[in-house]
Amino acid sequence: PRSIFFSRHGESMFNLMGKVGGDSDLSPRGRQYAQALPKVIAQNLGDHELTVWTSTMKRTIQTAELLPYPKLQWKALDELDAGVCDGMTYEEIEAHFPGDYANRDEDKFNYRYRGGESYRDVVFRLEPVIMELERQTNILIVCHQGVLRCMYAYFHNLPQDELPYIKIPLHTVIKLTPKAYGCEEVRYKVDI
Ligand code: F6P
Repeated sequence: PRSIFFSRHGESMFNLMGKVGGDSDLSPRGRQYAQALPKVIAQNLGDHELTVWTSTMKRTIQTAELLPYPKLQWKALDELDAGVCDGMTYEEIEAHFPGDYANRDEDKFNYRYRGGESYRDVVFRLEPVIMELERQTNILIVCHQGVLRCMYAYFHNLPQDELPYIKIPLHTVIKLTPKAYGCEEVRYKVDI
């Protein structure tokens, strides 16, 4: 049976600083995750073929760097665009745009950052990725928490209001195996 593997990029410098968005490099811990990933995948793939999809952001490309499989970069897998808030911490966002911050709390799925995107926008731009994914065999997607929430909600049929709050932990590979009804799920947490 075909499997879909999901992983967030390894911890980034912006993750460490609590800043949203950006295009930062992996942190030292994030690089350790990138080094551990090939073995985790190999152990759970058997001798099946795999293709790795990343976003166009450095942190996902660096995370996938050591994986010995064909790779493809998708712009559509880039993280939710935080617009004018890109590169800010949540405290800075609250201080600069208090109204927006409250609105986002009110309806996180539909809230669109000024000059950026909403979760609804991301769901829409992921449509071609999901279409292609449905045609493929084994794929590992290395991308971002916001985007993975949308993918995860699609495969588990989760409602829109829950989607923006799904927890996709760092340094964890999520393996989904589509079945006749729903998806079977296994998680591999990488201790580093
Ligand atoms: O904190 C990591 C991160 O992937 C950010 O890059 C992104 O902005 C955020 O999570 C998404 O979380 P939320 O939509 O809950 O603010």
